[in-house]
Amino acid sequence: MEWPSTWTDRAGRDRTPSIPGHELAGVVGALGYGTTGLSVGQRVFGLADWHRDGTLAEYAAIEARNLAPLPGDVDFAVAASLPISGLTAWQGLFQHGRLRAGQTVLAHGAAGAVGTMVTQLAREAGAYVIGTGRATDREKALGFGAHEFVDLENDALDDVGGVDLVFDVIGGDVQRRSAALIRAGGTLVSVVGPVEARPADGLAVDFVVEADRARLGEIVQRVRDGRLRTNIGDVASLDDAVGALNPATRREGKTVIRVRP
Ligand SMILES: NC(=O)c1ccc[n+]([C@@H]2O[C@H](COP(=O)([O-])OP(=O)(O)OC[C@H]3O[C@@H](n4cnc5c(N)ncnc54)[C@H](OP(=O)(O)O)[C@@H]3O)[C@@H](O)[C@H]2O)c1
Repeated sequence: MEWPSTWTDRAGRDRTPSIPGHELAGVVGALGYGTTGLSVGQRVFGLADWHRDGTLAEYAAIEARNLAPLPGDVDFAVAASLPISGLTAWQGLFQHGRLRAGQTVLAHGAAGAVGTMVTQLAREAGAYVIGTGRATDREKALGFGAHEFVDLENDALDDVGGVDLVFDVIGGDVQRRSAALIRAGGTLVSVVGPVEARPADGLAVDFVVEADRARLGEIVQRVRDGRLRTNIGDVASLDDAVGALNPATRREGKTVIRVRP
């Protein structure tokens, strides 16, 4: 895990040994003084505070506002895979990218955890979605709803034509080449650090996902309706978490650690 807040506090001071893990699904075991809106025994899921001990543990302390109720028919592993990828896609497309029906989205890494959410949410919103990735990602990206696919290793990205929104999960040269494709008034949204490239006549935004109970509710409702599919790769036990989170081979979707059998 390369997210610095896993290892440091808000002032940047080392806080190791720390417990990693920023997403969770589980059952409320106890309530802090004054907590309202949740009850002991309730199923919940959500996003943990970046700078505090995380979720790879039997018990985690999470602010109530960062949790959403989890309907009984949604599996904990599915729910645990949703907060970061689902909220990142949602916030990037609709809050930062101001996506509207009829627009074209270039969804990089469209077979990945964030990219599969971006592809599905953008398509549902009426956008035309061009997914990208490696050659082996084509079928998966199309299966998650991309209208077409660009293999970044073999196809010419510059041939894509004009797009209204680039959702960047890769950065570097891919980001630079993508910025040049953005139509007037369009947006480059990046989740991989400060944007280095700007569209000639448009906006460039980089952001870090934020907890949002209401949006988590909308995301899980889409999963229940069958409108949104999650992208789970490996499911491992807590004992096997270190190996599962540091795979020797390519990661395929979200890695979920099942703390209790
Ligand atoms: N700012 C935020 O709030 C935020 C939130 C979520 C995620 N992120 C960041 O966003 C990035 C993506 O996250 P994720 O969970 O979606 O990861 P992921 O599941 O690994 O998806 C990324 C996808 O892009 C592909 N890819 C990467 N570089 C490529 C290249 N040069 N050419 C072709 N395909 C390429 C990857 O393939 P390979 O696996 O083969 O490289 C993978 O399929 C990560 O860097 C993550 O830290 C940021």
